[in-house]
Amino acid sequence: MDNLHQLLLERHSIRRYTDAPVDADDVRLILQAALLSPSSKSKRPWQFVIVENRDTLARLAECKDFGTKPIGTCAFGVVVAVDAAESDCFVEDASIAAAFMHLQAAELGLGSCWIQVRNRFAADGTPAEDIVRETLGIPENLTIECIVTVGHKDEQRRPVDPDKLLWEKVHIERWRQIE
Ligand SMILES: Cc1cc2nc3c(=O)[nH]c(=O)nc-3n(C[C@H](O)[C@H](O)[C@H](O)COP(=O)(O)O)c2cc1C
Repeated sequence: MDNLHQLLLERHSIRRYTDAPVDADDVRLILQAALLSPSSKSKRPWQFVIVENRDTLARLAECKDFGTKPIGTCAFGVVVAVDAAESDCFVEDASIAAAFMHLQAAELGLGSCWIQVRNRFAADGTPAEDIVRETLGIPENLTIECIVTVGHKDEQRRPVDPDKLLWEKVHIERWRQIE
């Protein structure tokens, strides 16, 4: 797709994937998108762990009691970790990197989904971050923001109708209270 706005209209979170593997060149482009993302003061405080191993993915899917289904069928997941000591904008920096991967996947015709890890918990109350950290050996000093799952789409989502966007959230020149 060569039109960014059309991509934005068509982009969706895709949670079901086929068994087909993702081409290695596409995997590389998705990681490249993350590494190209802007960060506050260009600190680039993020780290990315790519996971393809099915047993490891199954363990990662247990990090929360709901919202992890895409991890079960994705071709691979990218765990986005970030060093809070390196930047006071660590959440923003990690989030932008994850969003860039999500958009790059969409541009390649692949499906992807953001799986929140930070501030989330497993069914027994264990922080999702602890489970992901222990499973992958991620150092204690890194915050784990999310996992971006990627794969070939096994569901179709309709493009957004631009007439249905929440324009009431846009204020012109100054705040306007909606009655
Ligand atoms: C910060 C953030 C956290 C999210 N966490 C999850 C999640 O844990 N599991 C999931 O299936 N989707 C998750 N999503 C995807 C949202 O549910 C999705 O973006 C939203 O429903 C809108 O759908 P769309 O992306 O198709 O427009 C998350 C998205 C964001 C931005």
